[in-house]
Amino acid sequence: MIIAVDGPTASGKGTIAKALAAHFGLPHLDTGLLYRAVGRQCFLDGGNPDDGGDALAATTFPDALLDDPILRGEDVGGLASRVSVHPAVRAALLTRQRDFAHLPGGAVLDGRDIGTVIAPEADLKLFVVASVPARAERRFREMQAQGRNVALADVAADLAMRDERDRTRAEAPLVAASDAVLLDTSDLGRDAAIEAAIELAERRF
Ligand code: C5P
Repeated sequence: MIIAVDGPTASGKGTIAKALAAHFGLPHLDTGLLYRAVGRQCFLDGGNPDDGGDALAATTFPDALLDDPILRGEDVGGLASRVSVHPAVRAALLTRQRDFAHLPGGAVLDGRDIGTVIAPEADLKLFVVASVPARAERRFREMQAQGRNVALADVAADLAMRDERDRTRAEAPLVAASDAVLLDTSDLGRDAAIEAAIELAERRF
């Protein structure tokens, strides 16, 4: 059983993917972390995130970096979005994601291109969306809880910029697979969004 959960930043896809994995007893991979790790490592190495040459694609990072809370920051998210436009970077991360999707027993993966590129054969594809104001508000609250002093308008602008980059890139853009089920979480709280996703999945399996 392969479940693909795609969607833009702060749509709730990560929370939903984690909950589905727990519900069905499946392993979960947050694929954004891989791009975040490449972006972070590029920064540490003094590389150029906009130069999609061999050096960036060959970036290796220790597995422990994936657990580093620093990867969750907005600045690393921006770097991830920049390195992820390069086909060579995406190709370098492909096998790891496909291998995970095909673990015996199945898996849940969340990202931008799981249903379209990584696992087009997935048994269930969810495309999780929410309005920009709803997503900006969520991200703003998260950042405030971390004690960061940010303006809601700046959070919304950053988010819209990242969406635009993810949607318009030539390689594996953020787009719903034709057979994906759309889940709009704009007006759903965390628990209601999880409940809706589990219901959709149970109807399928
Ligand atoms: O999901 P998350 O915000 O952690 O992803 C960070 C960035 O990594 C995204 O903005 C996107 O550009 C990129 N990404 C991607 N493909 C994926 C997962 C993430 O291009 N499957």
